[in-house]
Amino acid sequence: MVLLSVTPLWAAPPPAPIVITGADRRPAISLNGDWASIVDPYFNGLYSIHHVKMADGFFLNRKAQPGDLFPTEYDFSKSPSLKVPGDWNTQRESLFFYEGPIWYEHNFTYTPKKNTRVFLHVGAANYHSFFWVNGKKVCEHEGGYTSFNCEVTEALHEGANFVVAAVDNSRHEDNVPTMQTDWWNYGGITRSVSLLELPESFIDQYDLHLSRTEDSVIEGWAHLTNATPDATVAVEIPELNARASAKVGADGRALLHFSVKGLTRWSPETPKLYKVRIASGEDAVNELIGFRTIETRGTEILLNGKPVFLHGVCIHAEAPYRTGRAYSDQDAATLLGWARELGANYVRLAHYPHDESMLRAADRMGILVWAENPVYWALEFDNSQVYDKARLQLEEEIGTSRNHAAIILWSMANETPNNPTRTQFIENLAARARELDATRLITAALLIRTEGKTKVVDDPLGKALDVIGINEYIGWYEQHPEDADTTNWRIDFQKPVIVSEFGGSAKAGLHGDKNQRWTEEFQANIYRHQLPMLNRIPQLRGMSPWVLMDFRSPNRLLPGVQDDFNRKGLISETGEKKAAFFVLQQAYKENLVGKAE
Ligand code: GCU
Repeated sequence: MVLLSVTPLWAAPPPAPIVITGADRRPAISLNGDWASIVDPYFNGLYSIHHVKMADGFFLNRKAQPGDLFPTEYDFSKSPSLKVPGDWNTQRESLFFYEGPIWYEHNFTYTPKKNTRVFLHVGAANYHSFFWVNGKKVCEHEGGYTSFNCEVTEALHEGANFVVAAVDNSRHEDNVPTMQTDWWNYGGITRSVSLLELPESFIDQYDLHLSRTEDSVIEGWAHLTNATPDATVAVEIPELNARASAKVGADGRALLHFSVKGLTRWSPETPKLYKVRIASGEDAVNELIGFRTIETRGTEILLNGKPVFLHGVCIHAEAPYRTGRAYSDQDAATLLGWARELGANYVRLAHYPHDESMLRAADRMGILVWAENPVYWALEFDNSQVYDKARLQLEEEIGTSRNHAAIILWSMANETPNNPTRTQFIENLAARARELDATRLITAALLIRTEGKTKVVDDPLGKALDVIGINEYIGWYEQHPEDADTTNWRIDFQKPVIVSEFGGSAKAGLHGDKNQRWTEEFQANIYRHQLPMLNRIPQLRGMSPWVLMDFRSPNRLLPGVQDDFNRKGLISETGEKKAAFFVLQQAYKENLVGKAE
């Protein structure tokens, strides 16, 4: 295949994409819809026949011209389309198992405006993605679950424009996450894409939160790009009749600190969100923010200074009913609606950052959130480039979602092997998270070990955490459900504990004896024996059984039962509630499990 590269090989690579806080709260030109697509398993569009990555190779959307001295062996206009946002696996049967590169192309019209910078906002693209506008490479990104913004100001022109993307969900050892996950590797442009028009100098990141130490004080900062020396940032909360402004410092940041009167603190009981306007020069963001404090005191978790117990459930971003990667307000409403029906005041969004629509819904509904960076199972913890990838994803997650009152926990990892290299890797991530955001709690889901009838939680990583997450599967992967009755716990940390996973599988509608695996009765029996056991853990401050809804996984292959689905859901992917759903609902509604203090 002859490839045409328009940009000279020595051209400077495009600037790295940037993080923009609350990008979904800004006016935007949507590029969602049908995008032409070309499946390119050998990545011919990017690599030469000698597998040399073309500095800027790509398909040019170039129509073959009479007299061309080379064949054009592709044509987006004659190629099938894929919906954006959306994973490709559930859009086309032939792509169900596909892992590799796919090219996307989308035409749009645009009129450039004076003194205006334009960014291509990508909600998420799994896993490694490359973007060109009108033949000019505008960015490259690695990581499938965080949003990023590519400057396209120079690439755009009056009238007809086109954007080309290559998205590759191939798994590699040095990816984050890496080769093995217990969820489907949905590929594609899985969240919304739009154009953001911003002034020359704009507010790219901001943080506003309630002070933990001074009553009724809101503090934080706003960062301005291209700030002029006398720039200031103003914040307004009309409902509280609160206004404040601050000068921007040499680092582009304006530090904010102001008192408010009559503030209703955000909580599950009162999920109060305030309209907040953050403005500087030509730029302004109209946010919706709830104000609350979260901290620990010994083994207690304090929400707004009061002990709280987290009655929760884990959720994967699997779309209810249609399956595939969840991304819409409707997906969020259905999933969180079921969690609310269960009696949950908290959800663990596993194992990667979920769509902003999910976090906005949690803010509105008053559901506390455990948010997680996809450091899952065994990464190459001794590889510094892998660390940089994990750190970048963490920075993108926190940078994008830092103003959600719902998020109380940043989770650094899930079920990673207990060895010093791993521990150092995640301790560094935790330190970075604290640097970025000192207002939330840091956690991780740890593996446990067994000594006789005692479960021991002594993973040294626990020292770096504020809250200890524990995953255990008594009654499913080990022992009988009844063994929970005689299980003791030794937890080597005087810190709040969340049992971040427990449970077992059942095929909805499959009934039988409680000792018959895969039946609803077996799963319900696990829950009946788990709940009293959990109550015996003195510093238990929360629980999130695995999992709210059945979800697709390449590891679940039992015909007629799993059929590519992990069946540990309390609800099937088609909305059938299993017996265990009602066991847990009763425990939550009647407060049978968990003590806040
Ligand atoms: C693990 C893991 C999950 C997985 C679950 C299971 O604990 O964290 O991602 O799906 O167990 O085995 O079902």
